[in-house]
Amino acid sequence: MKRIVVSGIRPTGNLHLGNYFGALRNFIRMQDEYNCYFFIADYHSLTTHPHPDHLRQNVKQILASYIACGMDPEKVAIYAQSDLPETVELYLFLNMNAYLGELERCTSFKDKARQNPDNINAGLLTYPTLMAADILIHKADYVPVGKDQEQHLEMTRTFAHRFNSIYGMDYFGQPQAFNFGSNLVKIPGLDGSGKMGKSESGNNAIFLTDDDAVIRKKIMRATTDSGPVEMNQQKPEVIANLFQLVKVLCSEETYKSFDEAYNNCTIRYGDLKKQLAEDTIKFVAPFRERIQEILADDAYLEKVRRVGAEKAHESASKTVREVRNIIGF
Ligand code: TRP
Repeated sequence: MKRIVVSGIRPTGNLHLGNYFGALRNFIRMQDEYNCYFFIADYHSLTTHPHPDHLRQNVKQILASYIACGMDPEKVAIYAQSDLPETVELYLFLNMNAYLGELERCTSFKDKARQNPDNINAGLLTYPTLMAADILIHKADYVPVGKDQEQHLEMTRTFAHRFNSIYGMDYFGQPQAFNFGSNLVKIPGLDGSGKMGKSESGNNAIFLTDDDAVIRKKIMRATTDSGPVEMNQQKPEVIANLFQLVKVLCSEETYKSFDEAYNNCTIRYGDLKKQLAEDTIKFVAPFRERIQEILADDAYLEKVRRVGAEKAHESASKTVREVRNIIGF
């Protein structure tokens, strides 16, 4: 039997190249080998009280992007978390066994509470139990997530194990992080420091929906330095980051020729950026066009979402039924 994989993404806006090369491309590679549930975590996004129009739009945007990038709704259950209300029931049950102390100690809670002291709501505190419900509702074997989610996954295992101990049953398994290994390509931001999408400014990231002019503008403005001064010197972080983008988006020859130019101090960053911009445009344009096509077809999007939710509902309703029975309802 195929192993079960679950992952969610918060609907915070358009997807960028970092999302694509980090997770999305790997999700798509998993769709044949695993029984995948990839959902949009719209319940989770309520912790920040999004405007209903934005919420609707962002959910659609992610759905369309997933499909445009090659996720096959026939193979993967693609759905919105809010289309699977069974999750909420499991969340309630798990909350009964989740302790205030452990929730307060969670790093993401502490960070968010520090950043938004006026909005430390119960949903934020129990973010990890909702995430555990997302995962345990399908009795997932693997959860493909980045480093920043590992603590949440650890808490999921704690809640699963605790549920088993309380009821003296070996009901939930222990979902593991799925490690993409060398397939996880890091995409730096255009401001020279950190990952793409990390900074608040949209100028740090190239979105799959950016048009040609926007891509050109963003890349031409990417941070550089005043150039190499010694032959074969080591590249400082900003420049190494720019070269990483060239490596991912341009041909090997292009990379080699700019690398040589850097090493013999003849490089002109303007030339590098122009080439990078053109190659990025070539890469992004087909995705952008496909996303727009899909977004224009509301009936199709609705159908994908419904079919995904039905598939998810099959496994979720079974879990909730069994859990209710174990609990004594
Ligand atoms: N917390 C995840 C994030 O911020 C999103 C998420 C919600 C998730 N539920 C999940 C990821 C379940 C994996 C599995 O990126």
